[in-house]
Amino acid sequence: MVNFGYSNCKLTILLAHGMKIGDKHYRSLWLEEGETPQIRYIDQAVLPFRFETGTLHTPEDALLAITEMKVRGAPLIGAVAAGGIFLAAYRSAGKNHQETTVRKWAGKLKQARPTAVNLRVMVDRMADHVLNAFSPESPEERARKEYMKILEGETEACRMIGLHGLEILRDLHRKTGRTVNILTHCNAGWLACIDYGTATAPIYLAHERNIPVHVWVDETRPRNQGARLTAWELQQAGIPHTVITDNAGGHLMQKGCVDVVLVGSDCTTRNGDVANKIGTYLKALAARDNGIPFYVALPVSSIDREMENGVRNIPVEERSGEEVRLIEGLDGENLVRVSILSEEHPVSNPGFDVTPARLVTALITERGVCEATEGGIASLFTDP
Ligand code: MRU
Repeated sequence: MVNFGYSNCKLTILLAHGMKIGDKHYRSLWLEEGETPQIRYIDQAVLPFRFETGTLHTPEDALLAITEMKVRGAPLIGAVAAGGIFLAAYRSAGKNHQETTVRKWAGKLKQARPTAVNLRVMVDRMADHVLNAFSPESPEERARKEYMKILEGETEACRMIGLHGLEILRDLHRKTGRTVNILTHCNAGWLACIDYGTATAPIYLAHERNIPVHVWVDETRPRNQGARLTAWELQQAGIPHTVITDNAGGHLMQKGCVDVVLVGSDCTTRNGDVANKIGTYLKALAARDNGIPFYVALPVSSIDREMENGVRNIPVEERSGEEVRLIEGLDGENLVRVSILSEEHPVSNPGFDVTPARLVTALITERGVCEATEGGIASLFTDP
């Protein structure tokens, strides 16, 4: 464990190799091979106050890491759940219950969180390779190879999202000749995505290429992923940023302080509707009212083409009311939760909202930038 104060940690982002912490480069998730393979992750539940890594030995560990929010963010929970299937196959190697074990865990992991579609996609992909592929290799070896492909594929997707999104930021800079002010919500950074991030990837690349950027970071109540994770990431990369309350964005847009809104997505439907962290929709409305472009960055693994209409069909996770009643922070050395609301009040805590496609300027994917329409999305899946 590396333990550091909020302001004096020595981290730098090296995009080709993940985040550098001390002498070591990190991704948010990695496989440690060896006699007993294990999966390691950065524990997001204690950031930015402590830097700790955790280990997944079993599919139960993968499930718990997801449900306890030690890992979060759509691409990452997909990769952790896929890792759960790898561990299920590995741990039951040579046993006659291997198939039922893998099926059981596929069912459980897919239900860990309901909104992020690539959790289901990655679990199905892994289970299919373990159970249905014709190959002389053992099921666990097939699982290992597919898992490595998923980790590398998701990382490469984010790098490509960065390159496509970079052109948008470059154009904005060319037009105005000054710092590009970006507003983002929640954490769609490298922590949420193994490496690079989705919404943050273009920002990191722009910064690397000396395009001046400044990021307005929504704190993102109730869990504060913006204040705790995005701000931390940006700080380590030396990117100018300012944390704001979730309600400040509209005001800043009216005052001309925001050039572009850039967010991630947990699920994008065939018609281009986008589910993301609760509060994203309000930012899209304010952006439209102020003539500010609103882009969504996402890997194609988070597009659900079976689902026709996001506003109507995407399942929105209802999370515990404790997240509304309590707020977590540092008291001296200790991470504590304090109550901000009397127990008597009923609370409601939807984790996500859906931004209708008509408010989305464009989708930035690893396959290119497209309109948030059925045709635009279909074009991502047809050969040029
Ligand atoms: O509840 P979380 O923290 O898993 O929600 C994450 C988000 O909403 C992110 O913005 C989303 O996954 C974007 S993709 C990196």
